[in-house]
Amino acid sequence: MISQLNKLQLDEQGRLRHLLSLDGLDATRLTALLDRAEKFVARPGAPIRVSDSLRGKTVANLFFEASTRTRASFELAARRLGADILNLDINLSSGTKGETVLDTVRTLEAMNVDAFVIRHAETGIQQMIAENVATHVAVLNAGESHANHPTQGLLDALTIRQHKPDFESLNVAIVGDIRHSRVARSAVHVLSALGVADLRLVAPKSLLPVDEDLPGRDFTDMDEGIKDCDVVMMLRIQKERMQAGNIPDFAEYHRQFGMNEARLEITKPNAIVMHPGPMNRGVEISDAVADGPRAVILEQVNNGVAVRMAVLETLLEKRIS
Ligand code: NCD
Repeated sequence: MISQLNKLQLDEQGRLRHLLSLDGLDATRLTALLDRAEKFVARPGAPIRVSDSLRGKTVANLFFEASTRTRASFELAARRLGADILNLDINLSSGTKGETVLDTVRTLEAMNVDAFVIRHAETGIQQMIAENVATHVAVLNAGESHANHPTQGLLDALTIRQHKPDFESLNVAIVGDIRHSRVARSAVHVLSALGVADLRLVAPKSLLPVDEDLPGRDFTDMDEGIKDCDVVMMLRIQKERMQAGNIPDFAEYHRQFGMNEARLEITKPNAIVMHPGPMNRGVEISDAVADGPRAVILEQVNNGVAVRMAVLETLLEKRIS
């Protein structure tokens, strides 16, 4: 399944054709994407870098699940490269008309859309679309159920690299609702490929993955899991993906697994705290940490645009004839 996805996202010359998953991409390719993204990172107060490299290309955002930051980030990325961008919030509208996802894609393909940025609550939709589009069309996974969120993984890796460039010396804890998190899975894929020394998955037993062989050491005690960490990546409690009865008591959850100022003392003194957003303040993270000096949450957002520019350019530039 996983190598199948990786096969599908590479063309015959081994170039990236779609971005469906970070699983299977090696450190060289990941580093090249991060290097390209770094050039697009906007520094506060400095003019943003824009380019014309995708002038004449059209990107469609197809979001079947709510999103603010990822959607806006892809939109700005496409615009800053000179592409046209079409935003379609499909929610239930075409579903109720009985149109399949593939019909929607085929319709837009007929209008010469070059790239589809797709978010969907089910697994396998991006793969199915990638199997069916014309060879010059790219599919970018913008969030697939609990399974993949590759541009988030890249922006997380870029943010870590800006603060702590030597991945092989890092202790990284991913904390929270790992079971339902595509952010965690993509982070695990990229951080293990980049050689993070000690990758830890920290969650109550009920929120650790079941029957899944993710790299990383499991911890069910937060204080042990974040001890001496250089990076603590907090995750959102995914209420919408939980079975009834599985939703924790939030006050108790915060006591046991919330990031707060006292817990910062357990990490390395210069550790950074990450969160993909949107945050449940007071649940997985306290206001003081979220708004404090160790949080790099808005840097993640800033890096997100740069990463999406790098990915769009990588996927679409070779199609400029
Ligand atoms: C994440 C997502 O939607 O997967 N957010 C995001 O992309 N910024 C994380 C989340 O919803 O918890």
